[in-house]
Amino acid sequence: MNGIPDYNIRSMSEDDLDAVVAIEQDSFHTPWQREHFDQEMVAAHSYPFVAEYNGTIAGYVCLMSLFEEAQILDIAVASEQRGRGVARMLMDHAIGVARLKHAEVLALEVRGSNIAAITLYERCGFVRTGLRLRYYEGRDDAVLMELSL
Ligand SMILES: CC(C)(COP(=O)(O)OP(=O)(O)OC[C@H]1O[C@@H](n2cnc3c(N)ncnc32)[C@H](O)[C@@H]1OP(=O)(O)O)[C@@H](O)C(=O)NCCC(=O)NCCS
Repeated sequence: MNGIPDYNIRSMSEDDLDAVVAIEQDSFHTPWQREHFDQEMVAAHSYPFVAEYNGTIAGYVCLMSLFEEAQILDIAVASEQRGRGVARMLMDHAIGVARLKHAEVLALEVRGSNIAAITLYERCGFVRTGLRLRYYEGRDDAVLMELSL
């Protein structure tokens, strides 16, 4: 990928939260609150990571991995950093960690209207396994997706 900056993927820390919460609020209708990220950083079986470049947080992913099943709980990239492969890097990292934790399947759910995210997950090898009709605010469908590890 020519011209793509060298992003560093590392565990999320307290110092990242101002940037993480700003990206979260900019990215979702019903964003997670700061306390939710605080919990992810201390919870057993939770693995939150950030992508950083030159001291700037470009995006983050929250993985949960418990016994044979892992889940992507949250992922977002700062709007000005999208389209550069940051989410793909974060997903590849999360998939690697889930494998290290001996998960057999990685699951997630996504709004049916979120073409960017569905494309990202399909590029990572996820397949659709189910649909929850009008799951979000009684309108948008939830698409269930899984990757066999
Ligand atoms: C979804 C999101 C995380 C993608 O981040 P990103 O860093 O721009 O994604 P990448 O650049 O790594 O792209 C990964 C793949 O998805 C595809 N993709 C990304 N944005 C896309 C878009 N708007 N339309 C179609 N495909 C898209 C890319 O083409 C790429 O596939 P490729 O490698 O075959 O070209 C980002 O748009 C975002 O933060 N959205 C708001 C939060 C959100 O919806 N999170 C998901 C909740 S389930």
